[in-house]
Amino acid sequence: MAKINENYLKLPSNYLFSEIAKRVKNFQEKNPDAEIIKLGIGDVTQPLPKVCIDAMTKAVQEMGNAETFRGYGPEQGYNFLREKISEWNYKKNGIDISADEIFISDGSKCDCGNIQEIFSLDNKIAIFDPVYPVYLDSNIMAGRTEIIFLPCTEENNFSPEPPNEKVDLIYLCSPNNPTGTVLNKKILKNWIDYAKKNNSVIFFDAAYSAYITEKNIPHSIYEIDGAKDVAIEFRSFSKTAGFTGTRCGYVVIPENLFGTTSSGEKILLKNLWLRRQTTKFNGTAYIIQRGAAAIYSDEGQVQIKNLINYYLENARIICEGLKEIGLKFFGGKNAPYIWLKTPENFSSWEYFDELLKNFNIVGTPGAGFGACGENYLRLTSFGNREETLKAVERLKK
Ligand code: MLT
Repeated sequence: MAKINENYLKLPSNYLFSEIAKRVKNFQEKNPDAEIIKLGIGDVTQPLPKVCIDAMTKAVQEMGNAETFRGYGPEQGYNFLREKISEWNYKKNGIDISADEIFISDGSKCDCGNIQEIFSLDNKIAIFDPVYPVYLDSNIMAGRTEIIFLPCTEENNFSPEPPNEKVDLIYLCSPNNPTGTVLNKKILKNWIDYAKKNNSVIFFDAAYSAYITEKNIPHSIYEIDGAKDVAIEFRSFSKTAGFTGTRCGYVVIPENLFGTTSSGEKILLKNLWLRRQTTKFNGTAYIIQRGAAAIYSDEGQVQIKNLINYYLENARIICEGLKEIGLKFFGGKNAPYIWLKTPENFSSWEYFDELLKNFNIVGTPGAGFGACGENYLRLTSFGNREETLKAVERLKK
């Protein structure tokens, strides 16, 4: 009989959001009349921007014509999209990232999960606790055992200091999923200095950067001096342009970012990633890349801003409601997530059940993101307005 990868047995039996979906389905079957409001998984609800629809419609037509039909695309992504990302997300903000350093994918989840494959299994990794489960699960699946958890607590503003010991790979996420907090320039500089001193590589997940409302909070780690020597950045169109079901994201691996072999030879990480992708990935659909590129125009920027403001207004509505009720929470200002402290010392899963049973509201139990998420519950602002208002009203009652 074929032997399995036993590392999979070290994982929780279900992925966090699959477990929640299963529990919600069970509840709905037993309570068919319950009008459930889902503020659990961070899935968008509003339609794609018109610029994206128009660009994708045109691309579909091109695919139906022999002269304009496209088969396999360039492995790193179409130049038209990489050039636009370089210009609009980096160069316009004074950051020198070129199209050659950008790798288009079908979303950040895959990129964040796959990036660890180009690094040795004996690397020590540092991960925040609580954390987006993909970072941890993907390392466990690979068989990595040296994992340092950095507790994020109210006392440290959910922003732990770099560890005292040396780690090789560091996962940072700002605005943070799940706590909704952000890392400012000083904090990021501290991490970059740590990485330089210890020859570590930082994985910076900026999937939620479009939700930053406060001035002086970095949208990209490359806003900080020295980041190009130590950091890989992940970005996504999912939460920026409503692409959760459409799928498009990208990784930035700077030109001069190196790893090393066990004998000390320096190897360009960018080349390793391209090598990995060309074997295991055949690119994001042309139609989708055209849709993504459409946000990089004056009109496109207005339309995505409207979309983001809609979800930020939901976040404000939830935060105001929680304040009125007297519940303690964090986030919701620079992020679509609200990190709610459970009342009366409810455990995360108890409070999840309580909200589902008594209010028919779905949240995400903080404990599902790690031990330090216990006694918290995450709410998302990605619902539609009517349901968000209704959820707050139910809670107030
Ligand atoms: C979440 O709810 O944390 C997000 O949906 C995660 C993701 O984008 O995969």
